Amino acid sequence: QETTTTQYCDVLIIGAGLAGLATALSLPKQLKVTVLAKEGLTACSSYYAQGGIAAVIDSQDKVSDHVSDTLIAGDGLCNVEATSQILIQGSNAISWLLSHNVPFTTNDEGQSLNETKIDTQLASLHLTQEGGHGCRRVAHADDATGRHIMIRLQQQASQADNISLLPFHEALSLITEDAKQTTTTRRCIGAKVIDTQTHNLITFNSKAVVLASGGLGQLFSRATAPNVCVGDGIMMAWEAGCRLANLEFIQFHPTGLVYNDENGSSNFLISEAVRGEGGLLRCPISHERFMPNYDTREELAPRDIVARAIANEIANNNVGYVHLDISHKPADFIKQHFPDIYAHCLSLGIDITQQPIPVAPTAHYTCGGVVANASGQTDVTGLYAAGEVANTGLHGANRLASNSLLECVVVGRKIASQLARQLTNASPLDTESSDNPDESTLAESVTHTKSPSLTQLIVPTEHLNSSVEMTDFSLSPDDFDLEDQLTSLKQLMTDNMGIKRNEASLKQALDQVIRLKQQLSLLPTDPVAEQNSSLNRFRFDRLLTLASLLLQSALTRTESRGGHYREDYPSVTHSPATSIVTPLCSQADE
Ligand code: SIN
Repeated sequence: QETTTTQYCDVLIIGAGLAGLATALSLPKQLKVTVLAKEGLTACSSYYAQGGIAAVIDSQDKVSDHVSDTLIAGDGLCNVEATSQILIQGSNAISWLLSHNVPFTTNDEGQSLNETKIDTQLASLHLTQEGGHGCRRVAHADDATGRHIMIRLQQQASQADNISLLPFHEALSLITEDAKQTTTTRRCIGAKVIDTQTHNLITFNSKAVVLASGGLGQLFSRATAPNVCVGDGIMMAWEAGCRLANLEFIQFHPTGLVYNDENGSSNFLISEAVRGEGGLLRCPISHERFMPNYDTREELAPRDIVARAIANEIANNNVGYVHLDISHKPADFIKQHFPDIYAHCLSLGIDITQQPIPVAPTAHYTCGGVVANASGQTDVTGLYAAGEVANTGLHGANRLASNSLLECVVVGRKIASQLARQLTNASPLDTESSDNPDESTLAESVTHTKSPSLTQLIVPTEHLNSSVEMTDFSLSPDDFDLEDQLTSLKQLMTDNMGIKRNEASLKQALDQVIRLKQQLSLLPTDPVAEQNSSLNRFRFDRLLTLASLLLQSALTRTESRGGHYREDYPSVTHSPATSIVTPLCSQADE
């Protein structure tokens, strides 16, 4: 039988990826910080990020150009102020990572970064190119940027006396005070958590909670995100009173490796930097390039355009993939720039210095999420959101490549800075004030300084009234196999809400999700059921709710924009609008 305990910390951080650790390491040392990881410390999307982190470092580059490229990719739905506030911190974010000994790739191979000053290190970084960027702007550590960053930050977080890193601790719900009041006065004061190894339940009481729990890629059958990324942070925030925005904008990365073995399909990514360094997309049958037929930016068009072009080619070629070919570049160049991709493909029998790589689009990034400002503040007091879980307005309808790691560091540090001011008299460890560029100077230089006044698409949610209570852990283990149910749900979402959608496919999926939800709520309860089985039932019910919110958002947006392509509405409408899902508790209050 499980036991329930209560623990206290100043700041509870849900998620141990880059957003979570950037926040934790930037908080003052006198604050007691707990960081929860749902599984082991490598089970987060940040760890698998390949390409890099976009920032204005080159003296010829300008923040206003980075903003402008981001707005173009975001297709009318970026918040310009938030975008500027985040991107202006780009080189500070890289400096912060350098100060934490992240081994970024330099122009001079023999150079050891540790021996030089941060400014000199910055100037020596090798910058790669990715789709949608007007110039080379992406700092990287070989082709495994996320892994190199996370190894360094995990080392430092685990050595910090004020930080407790707790792997295998899954947050189940947020605790709020005064839940009867409006969302503006509702305050988050902790979370209910389960230790998934001992099955003990823990109530964490804290002064602030930071959601850094990642996205929902695992709602789709081919995804680059690790298994933990099922959008539970998004759902916890919604249940606690936060609005959600733009959930229909799932970014499909154009070039996931296509390789099936007995363990299922691969979720390995072939970085956009491969195209940035000269890789070409070809039809696997005629070997002709096809991107020039779709966009003048060819292989380096924004992701949504390249992904749709590839999907189109695949629909006509009966092979299930296209080829990404970099074998025309010297073998040493390929091995030096892409050591991980080279080794991984070689282990599967594909020598990328000699052969093209079979690729197809794969679910990669949740552009929408919990509504938050550029400093991570959500609709609920004391609750912050950073990274993929959040919708700060930086990504709009389609995230620009390599802006996500940047957002994790910048927003994480901004949250730490606010909490330092609120919870102590001290500054955070790395004060923003000392290195904070003047954002008003930027405003003058950015061509579009004002967000278009985005109207709101209100997403209906009336079918969501049945839900399984977390305490109702009582399904017989024989009745319910989460893995089977999950596999079918992912296939349904991939088939009906993939790169191309239409009203019929979305409605069919929504009907099926609602039916499943009803069936789940009618399943008999068994008082002696194992806790695990009941927990799985709770998890699956929440996933069905999330799926229905995505489907409703996609149905409500009767246009094609960014990563959302409606076959029945193939053009953009004139007025860009953010889609909004109202929090469950506000609906109950009405
Ligand atoms: C990639 O390396 O292509 C992924 C980078 C990103 O998702 O921003």
